[in-house]
Amino acid sequence: MRGKHIIVAVSAGIAAYKAIEVVSRLRKKGAEVKVVMTRNATNIASPLTFGEISGHPVALDMFEQVHQWDVEHIALATWADAYVVVPATANVIGKIYAGIADDMLTTTIMATTAPKYICPAMNTEMYNNPITQRNLEGLRSLGYHIMEPAEGWLACGVTGVGRLPEPVAIVEWLEAQLCKTSELEGITVLVTAGGTQENIDPVRYIGNRSSGKMGYAIAEQAVRMGANVILVSAPTSLSVPSGVEFVPVDSALSMQEAVESRYKNVDVVVMAAAVSDFRVLHKAEQKIKKMESMTLELVKNPDILQGLGSHKEHQILVGFAAETEHVIKYGQDKVARKNLDMLVANDVSKSNAGFNVDTNEGYFLYPDKEPKEMANMKKSELAQYIMKEVVELVANKHL
Ligand code: PMT
Repeated sequence: MRGKHIIVAVSAGIAAYKAIEVVSRLRKKGAEVKVVMTRNATNIASPLTFGEISGHPVALDMFEQVHQWDVEHIALATWADAYVVVPATANVIGKIYAGIADDMLTTTIMATTAPKYICPAMNTEMYNNPITQRNLEGLRSLGYHIMEPAEGWLACGVTGVGRLPEPVAIVEWLEAQLCKTSELEGITVLVTAGGTQENIDPVRYIGNRSSGKMGYAIAEQAVRMGANVILVSAPTSLSVPSGVEFVPVDSALSMQEAVESRYKNVDVVVMAAAVSDFRVLHKAEQKIKKMESMTLELVKNPDILQGLGSHKEHQILVGFAAETEHVIKYGQDKVARKNLDMLVANDVSKSNAGFNVDTNEGYFLYPDKEPKEMANMKKSELAQYIMKEVVELVANKHL
């Protein structure tokens, strides 16, 4: 986001306070931010705070300054590389779609040619109202980017759709679209993530500690590089990254079906998922009652990646290996056995690498090159390195 000029326009939703954190996070990522507020929004969040956090005076729709508008709204509009309305109320969405420009927010958004991003937040009934939906659809058809509101507890005391997503998610959504490159344009990347779950009975399963963080970071990075991204995910607590085709699965068999059925039309597969090697032979139809002891018979699951490697055509296959010892040797065995183009061998014996942490480290292994050691870093950063390697592999294969 470094050097990007972003206007954050705040309308009078109760979630206006969350826009403060959005501004702060954008600035931490290197963006320069100017804030526009509607007069009503100043009753909910202070322009002083926005001024402090953004480092610029806030542009307000004060009628006493009307003589400055012509200068200021055009200057702001041309300055912007991106224009974000957060939160966007039903009223402001309606005004923008109707072409009403009667305050600083609606005037500047009409005057700018920068890409526009709308983060609606309102009561569920207002959001579902056909008028709001028509206005959002209309804006979408005009090229405005609309973020889906989250579900959850709303200030009006009900639970439903219409909540402003968390600032971190809003900034990730913006970053995914603003920082897009075209390195992987036209390339379809399928990423698997999370730990599969093998049912024992309707309420219990065998699982593992994968959080999905590594796979989701890779999917986000692939979106940023312009790829068409399919994210096949075992259950996680993460929000779905914007811009991906999301395919939820649970067991190894359902993941295999999801991956195999798409394989023919995919250029790159990155298997970051932790797939259970075994499943329960006889799943109980009803919840198993307490007993002194029990024995579960397990059968081997198919190795999804090895299967892909055995009928590889044009595809590039990137695997992961969760190792606790002989990381390079065991990893190299997997490169050969699974017919991979690259493998990320992470040392999961370390507390700051592998499962359910934000950082990772290990080696990049190849069938025909020396291993590359990767120091400990954030999973989002490692995802950048992994996808850079993928860009090179794609170029070499002339995909
Ligand atoms: O999700 P996080 O909390 O962020 O953690 C990340 C991670 C540790 C899960 C990830 O970095 C990782 O190492 N994923 C692969 C874990 C694993 O299953 O390793 P493996 O050595 O058992 O398998 C090797 C490769 O074969 C993997 O790409 C795996 O997806 C694949 N596999 C394994 C078994 C199986 N039955 N089918 C497979 O396709």
